[in-house]
Amino acid sequence: MTIDSFMTAASDYANAVDGTFWVLVVISSLITLLVAALIAGFSLRYRRGSTARRGPLSERFGRDVEIGWTVATLFLFLFIFWWAASNQLSALNVPAHAMEIHVVAKQWMWRVQQPGGAREINEIHVPENVPIRLVMTSEDVIHDLFLPTMRLKQDVLPGRYTYLSFTPTKTGVFHLTCAEYCGTDHSVMAGRLVVMTAPDYARWTNAQPEADDLAHQGEAVFSALGCSGCHAPTSSIHAPDLHGLYGRAVPLADGRMVTADEAYLRDSILLPAKDIVAGYAPIMPSFRSAVTEDDLVKLIAYLKSLSSSPDAGVSPASGKERAGGTPALPGDRRMGAPQ
Ligand code: CUA
Repeated sequence: MTIDSFMTAASDYANAVDGTFWVLVVISSLITLLVAALIAGFSLRYRRGSTARRGPLSERFGRDVEIGWTVATLFLFLFIFWWAASNQLSALNVPAHAMEIHVVAKQWMWRVQQPGGAREINEIHVPENVPIRLVMTSEDVIHDLFLPTMRLKQDVLPGRYTYLSFTPTKTGVFHLTCAEYCGTDHSVMAGRLVVMTAPDYARWTNAQPEADDLAHQGEAVFSALGCSGCHAPTSSIHAPDLHGLYGRAVPLADGRMVTADEAYLRDSILLPAKDIVAGYAPIMPSFRSAVTEDDLVKLIAYLKSLSSSPDAGVSPASGKERAGGTPALPGDRRMGAPQ
């Protein structure tokens, strides 16, 4: 398979970025030509010995002309700023149904985990015309995932999640590379983004070695680490129920409200003393030395699955299905879960 050139635009966002780029090139070229022409024209007209009229321009054109061109160019550049910025901000709008793919960077490779459980190294397979959301983190230093044909680039940092989202509109094999100097083999920390038609992607997924989906793998990690000992609805230890937690607003003991997103779940596992949920004692130990980045990805996928509709969710560690999707308040955790 040949890899498409960097010039290919493989998403609507990439086309928008190219549009901005070419408009800026045209405007800059026109202004450069105008300035060059004026320099040449004035050099001739006002050369030594010429009889051209000299003196302030305002004598001939008046103030209005000067104000006119100043204001016109100001609005032109404000328009360009608004247009380019709104294009760029549009890349941050992620549709709720976007397909999530986890990427863990380490010196010097990209480890990728598909939602269906398939694992890849230095390759990301994605279906065409489906919104994709990459959830990325690093195991060591700062890396940066660069997808030139999507015109997207994002730092990948240790200790936190960053995101990239795009909707590929063109099938093909595209470059994927690290764009932040990260050590000896930074230059070879590259791979391929493979955009396939939806049926091809389904076929590819089915051809991967059997693996549980991420949420099920996370459920196994959840049990293996003993999380269910405290967080199962039937547990006698007063720990927050995790059903319906993802995406919800959580009141903290110090009066703050936080949203239970990936970063919050991650911090709660690694730095449990950072955000204590109102009404609970800070008794949870840190799992910093017990979990790998891959385990975290699985655990968070499992916790998320507890928040989706009952049929999409994985049964909780206690082995019972969740009765409904209504979020429970931390105070009435036992009411929100089946007894
Ligand atoms: Cu990783 Cu440069």
